[in-house]
Amino acid sequence: MSEVKRVAKLEIDGKTYELPMHSPTAGPDVIDIRKLYADAGVFTYDPGYTSTASCDSTITFIDGDKGELLHRGYPIDQLAEKSHYLEVCYLLLYGELPSPAQLEDFESRVTNHTMIHEQMHFLFRGFRRDAHPMAIMVGVVGALSAFYHDSTDIADPWQREVASIRLIAKMPTIAAMAFKYTIGQPFEYPRNDLDYASNFLRMCFAVPAENYVVNPILSRAMDRIFTLHADHEQNASTSTVRLASSSGANPFACVAAGIACLWGPAHGGANQACLEMLQEIGTPDRIPEYIARAKDKDDPFRLMGFGHRVYKNFDPRAKVMKQSADEVLELLGVENNPTLQVAKELERQALADPYFAEKKLFPNVDFYSGIILEAMGFPTSMFTPIFAVSRTIGWISQWKEMIADPQLKIGRPRQLYKGATLRDYVDIEKR
Ligand code: ACO
Repeated sequence: MSEVKRVAKLEIDGKTYELPMHSPTAGPDVIDIRKLYADAGVFTYDPGYTSTASCDSTITFIDGDKGELLHRGYPIDQLAEKSHYLEVCYLLLYGELPSPAQLEDFESRVTNHTMIHEQMHFLFRGFRRDAHPMAIMVGVVGALSAFYHDSTDIADPWQREVASIRLIAKMPTIAAMAFKYTIGQPFEYPRNDLDYASNFLRMCFAVPAENYVVNPILSRAMDRIFTLHADHEQNASTSTVRLASSSGANPFACVAAGIACLWGPAHGGANQACLEMLQEIGTPDRIPEYIARAKDKDDPFRLMGFGHRVYKNFDPRAKVMKQSADEVLELLGVENNPTLQVAKELERQALADPYFAEKKLFPNVDFYSGIILEAMGFPTSMFTPIFAVSRTIGWISQWKEMIADPQLKIGRPRQLYKGATLRDYVDIEKR
């Protein structure tokens, strides 16, 4: 916590309370209210955490007004262009870019943990074939704690390290198996001679009957999707992982909680919802109808892939994703893809509309990611599992930071109670 330089004054019923303020290295100052209840007997009220910093962190910084996203200080566009996913994982987890030897060692450790316990295959077979892959992932990732007892003791730094590597390594295997299971194809085992993204594509699309060669441009695009989703400071699923972990629960269970949170359409489920919306719109001439619906207060419809709690400017990830969509579709010879045409025209019309300008609603990372994933051959149900694979590093980096923090306390919000006050129980025959 930074040195206290300023204080905020809060007056309640004529009495003034001084609240220390802390200055971060970047971003707005924070008012420290930790002693407020003890001193003044009041709570603060902030459902949705719109003005609340829930922790100290050194991992990721977002300037929503500028449209800036930094991981350990490095801008996301530089990382997307010059780095690759496993190097970004190292950066997020350990705080600095790795030396060549450190990167080689890290990649080797991840690669050697990609298989899952053979008995876990039976776990998949317990699910219905038409289960959503996210439903399978919530269950299977939680079940890792039943198979890897030697990395569930969070008090042991070595076990924490092994659990982190296992999660990064096994998540693509689990997501690919969830996909294979739902389409009735045999599971493909991971291959240690392939890089992280190529291995994932192979586990999803190879079949034993044919030789599968990974297209390096698709592999690069896949890696970039992983990189762009790697971390996003205290978003809903990361905060879920932190809250679950604050009780001392094991990391596999906590990451399963993060996956459950990510599934919702306001968060990681938006990429599936966005592609489905673009397909429903179908042709550019129908766009005005959907824009009018998004603006209508009596219609719950929202433009999926538009708007963000923090970004009040372009989501920097959306710019890279749009460029990637153009590259991938050109490579696949489908640059006239109708969904991409609808997306580009929808973006153009929405950005020119005063409603979206006034509310500072811009395309977010999910606006173009679904188009790329669909062109690669993924069904919409796999979009959010792919997001979960990518975000695992963010969840575990934030978890690792939290567990090592000497100030760690169980997360326990308070409430503004509006229910009944004390009353006597009424016997059933008198009701
Ligand atoms: N379409 C139309 N109007 C919108 C949209 C949208 N996509 N997003 C926000 N608005 C409007 C709201 O109606 C509200 O209007 P009002 O002030 O007149 O009531 C205003 O903009 C502010 O919206 P909130 O819901 O209060 O903003 P919040 O920060 O809570 O929500 C969210 C952010 C959930 C991302 C929202 O913009 C949304 O639902 N977007 C669509 C879903 C989506 O793309 N989610 C992905 C997020 S990124 C990610 O998780 C990777």
